[in-house]
Amino acid sequence: MRSKVTVVGAGNVGATAAQRIFDRGYADVVLVDIVEGLPQGKALDIQESGPVLGSDATIVGTNGYEETAGSDIVVITSGIARRPGMSRDDLLLTNMRIVSSVVSEVAEHSPDCVILPVTNPLDAMAQRAYQVSGFPKSRVVGMAGILDTGRFRTFLAEELSVSVNSIEAYVLGGHGDTMVPVVGSTTVGGIPVANLIAADRLEEIVQRTRDGGAEIVNYLKTGSAYYAPSASIVQMVEAILFDKNEILPCTALLQGEYGINDLFVGVPVKLGNGGVVEVVEFDLNDDEMAALKHSADAVQELVEVMASNES
Ligand code: APR
Repeated sequence: MRSKVTVVGAGNVGATAAQRIFDRGYADVVLVDIVEGLPQGKALDIQESGPVLGSDATIVGTNGYEETAGSDIVVITSGIARRPGMSRDDLLLTNMRIVSSVVSEVAEHSPDCVILPVTNPLDAMAQRAYQVSGFPKSRVVGMAGILDTGRFRTFLAEELSVSVNSIEAYVLGGHGDTMVPVVGSTTVGGIPVANLIAADRLEEIVQRTRDGGAEIVNYLKTGSAYYAPSASIVQMVEAILFDKNEILPCTALLQGEYGINDLFVGVPVKLGNGGVVEVVEFDLNDDEMAALKHSADAVQELVEVMASNES
């Protein structure tokens, strides 16, 4: 039997992720949104691409959760997207309420699923999804690090005129202005990137990575990035469905790792069947460790704002 993946939020990120999963035939897909007709229309359109693409998967759109029952993975993209001039953190309380209501439905209908939050601000939403679901920590894992790392690798590849596939990099920390592109463990064909790019130029590339989301928002004017985010979701879905034990930068609950406690932060995780198999601990230098701690503090602030605005 084919696996089942639900995507909540049939907007740009959700619908594109659903399309990518369907195209590859990885799973039967359920697309959920509160807007009547939107998930049904997009799902039918995607379904009708099946004969052309050769995908035998099914996809249905719905405004409820009955059809989502028994999902293996539930991707959560529902929420308000960032607009120009709006920080990810401005979205916090609105998206907290949306994610909370969605997660309680998801946990009821798919009690054994892996929840994959994508809605921003991501780390705080993952924390919220964990709290509301009551799931074990292994089954809540957020998407951000793959996207941030994808941007970093894109810019490095462009700078060095080398294939993106030759660049190994990890961007850790919260998905925000404090994210930590770990330069010390970034290599190009096995060579440390710091040997190939001058420090000041490297810092510019790191900063462009941090501003990667805003750069797209500024071009689009309405809405934010979705091609790279949806591709990043699919890499996680693939690792989980096919039990790949792939080490990927994802947002996971830390309980002592990297000296951080009870907080969702972006770290390398081994992702396989059932979600997070383990958190991988890199040897970070003092500066990188301090940057990660600083980033975790920024996530902690959001978690506290959420706690004091419980409705
Ligand atoms: N239940 C289901 N769907 C909802 C709910 C809800 N309670 N509230 C909002 N939605 C839906 C909206 O109707 C909309 O179709 O979520 C969808 C969000 O889609 P977009 O506005 O197109 O946003 P998108 O670009 O897809 O981004 C979604 O992912 O990357 C993050 O920052 C981004 O938080 C944002 C999320």
